Amino acid sequence: MATSVDKTLAEQGVQSAEQVAAFFEELRARFDTEVLAIQDEASWEAVRHAWQGRKSGIFVLITDNWLKKANAELKAVVGQGFNALRKYVDGRLAQLESEVKAGTEAWENVKDRVDLSLPGVVRPLGSRHLIRQVFQEIEDIFFSIGFSVVEGPEIETPYYNFEALNIPEHHPVRDDMDTFYMDLPKGSPGQLLLRTHTSPMQIRTMEKQKPPVRVIVPGRVYRRDNPDATHSFAFHQVEGLAVDTDITFCDFTGTIEYFVKQFFGANVKTRFRPSYFPFTEPSVEFDVSCVFCGGSGTTASGTCGKCKGAGWIELFGAGMVDPAVYGFVGYDPKKVSGFAFGIGIDRLAMLKYGIDDIQAFFQNDVRFLKQFP
Ligand code: DAH
Repeated sequence: MATSVDKTLAEQGVQSAEQVAAFFEELRARFDTEVLAIQDEASWEAVRHAWQGRKSGIFVLITDNWLKKANAELKAVVGQGFNALRKYVDGRLAQLESEVKAGTEAWENVKDRVDLSLPGVVRPLGSRHLIRQVFQEIEDIFFSIGFSVVEGPEIETPYYNFEALNIPEHHPVRDDMDTFYMDLPKGSPGQLLLRTHTSPMQIRTMEKQKPPVRVIVPGRVYRRDNPDATHSFAFHQVEGLAVDTDITFCDFTGTIEYFVKQFFGANVKTRFRPSYFPFTEPSVEFDVSCVFCGGSGTTASGTCGKCKGAGWIELFGAGMVDPAVYGFVGYDPKKVSGFAFGIGIDRLAMLKYGIDDIQAFFQNDVRFLKQFP
């Protein structure tokens, strides 16, 4: 039968000192069991209240029901047993109180600083845009043969964008280069436009320095094109210009061939076809053997869709600098010669990395960008 503090000892049949001692022993065991459940301040307080509570705590009940009502012979024994129990319980509770409070404070401190229930913070690293990476690849190739990089304004005057490149006002090639003109206040001295190519930097560079010149110009250019899979109103070019006293057509084709093989791999072939640009004479269009079908024009599934069976892919325009251009920059066309080229970077990147929509470069979709870390 369990010891009860609601009844007197006599009511529970206690008659000897041994029985009294056994009752207190049992209470101590009960207390020890309850202590095992203490985990924090609240559970400590519950145990404390059950034992030391002023109104109906176990101590109060022992005093009222056991001690006060004990018969004369047992009173001293009950008093001793009670004192011993109280000392034990008070001591344990005080000790547990400091442990629990220290633990709680330590816990609160941690909780304030870190929410351990949150998932870890993932901070994804960005990477350079593929167009930037291709710029860098091209720059590295031309660095290795003595070119340097210059950059220029994206807002140009018609003089640099057209006239000084031997494209006078009513020249038909301007039609292909229709672009965005600035809406300038009335009375402004001239027009300004978004450059349609990086070629104006040929002029700006030659104006600034005497031959020899060996530069490439990476940059963004603009045209009034309707966006589709191969057109965008903004795209990227790398212009190249080499001028010196003894540059030949052989230097020109050799340089281009070196670049194309470095960029696409040693196995590709190059060829050039006659073309026309107002600022080069002769002008050529460079082709590379199709990187998708190896130049055969066919793949396992039939005609190669990339070169449409031709085996060649049009790469970019180039040529020997037209002597008329030297006239605009104060170079002597009898003493100097050189070559120039203008590479469309978006197209090159699409060919090399198998991308079939130019718009992917401008949409900033992380799923696309992540493929080119
Ligand atoms: N500027 C020309 C274009 O955007 C490309 C070009 C062709 C640049 C021939 C050159 C060149 O320097 O020699 O269509």
